[in-house]
Amino acid sequence: MPDKHILGIESSCDETGAAVVRSGEKVLSNVVFSQIATHQPYGGVVPELASREHLRAIVPVVRKALEEAGQTYQSVDAIAVTQGPGLAGALLVGLSYAKALAFALEKPLIAVNHLEGHIHAVLLEERQKGNHEVNFPVLALVVSGGHTHLYLAEQKGESWSYENVGHTRDDAAGEAFDKVAKLLGLGYPGGPVIDRLSSHGDPKSVRFAISQIKHPDRKARGKAEDGRARFDFSYSGIKTAVLRYVETHNMASAIEKRRKALTAIAKPKLEDYLAVCEPETRNLVASFQRTMVEDLVEKTLAAADYFNAVTLFVTGGVAANNELRTRFEETAAQQGLPVFFPSRPLSTDNAAMIAAAAYPKWLVKEFAPMDFSAEASLPLRKL
Ligand code: KG4
Ligand code: ZN
Repeated sequence: MPDKHILGIESSCDETGAAVVRSGEKVLSNVVFSQIATHQPYGGVVPELASREHLRAIVPVVRKALEEAGQTYQSVDAIAVTQGPGLAGALLVGLSYAKALAFALEKPLIAVNHLEGHIHAVLLEERQKGNHEVNFPVLALVVSGGHTHLYLAEQKGESWSYENVGHTRDDAAGEAFDKVAKLLGLGYPGGPVIDRLSSHGDPKSVRFAISQIKHPDRKARGKAEDGRARFDFSYSGIKTAVLRYVETHNMASAIEKRRKALTAIAKPKLEDYLAVCEPETRNLVASFQRTMVEDLVEKTLAAADYFNAVTLFVTGGVAANNELRTRFEETAAQQGLPVFFPSRPLSTDNAAMIAAAAYPKWLVKEFAPMDFSAEASLPLRKL
């Protein structure tokens, strides 16, 4: 079959992305315009500002992606766009632009679920390395600022099906990283800062307990309607525990000083963070990260064992975390389970994963009608 070029567009949260991917396996360009600087003063994503920023960035970002890929509006074979889940106003920007392009260029339009995109980022990574072999069933952990979801993924012909077997009952893992960083005066987003600071602290210094989801019928875990176990997560408790620690250890004034010092630096480096973080904070951060990583790894591997998964995917923004990667690799190896991650640029939000997830849909001509709309809570359904 001749090569097919799909232009992907992603605007579900605070990154405007456009990418061209050839036949679902080769990234020709992957442009991401991050809005971090816009949201930083607020310590989190402000939806209204995100929509406005997407509107400003979308045209130049798409142009740049086409240019870097040596493609044109006319030469691409289809336009793929994130339909959801995400911020409704942000999604609408990408979606309206993709619709307009598809209409004007008379090209097929493909709607992609953002979570499916994260899962396909792993496949894209492997295909780029020349690995086309994936054994099923795959258990995929999608762990980001908005999600901590476990899916059993299967491929039937060109179609993919996904079954949700666990999710967070409250905060997502990335959200916990972001909230803890914010309350410690470390700025936004929290994950990358906590990741780097953690290797400078003692992860055993503070003991945190993660809430375990209880279900009336089962002691340890919840149960799905079909009687099978569910593997749910909960991360709002650990955030509160960090807050209590800060209060009982009178850390408020040091945190305020740190917040001010870091705000004055445009792009703080690791040395800047280390200069304003005394051992107590470094230890707290390292202990928080260790607890999060252990819980994510333990539950995911328990689910893999329960569902007899033979391959593990770990993807989404938090999959960029160094300790998480190392822990998964070590522990999965002990269980004889291969574990795959996307490269770091493909872990966080990007449009290459959207174009890659669109390729199997292109093959079976699963095109979106012109009247489809953004869905903020779009579920990833089982076929
Ligand atoms: O996938 P993503 O870019 O956007 C969403 O779909 O949410 O994930 C962003 C999240 C943020 O919460 C950010 O703090 C977290 O991923 N993150 C990390 C790291 N890099 C990004 N968390 C832990 N360690 C990292 N290195
Ligand atoms: Zn994401």
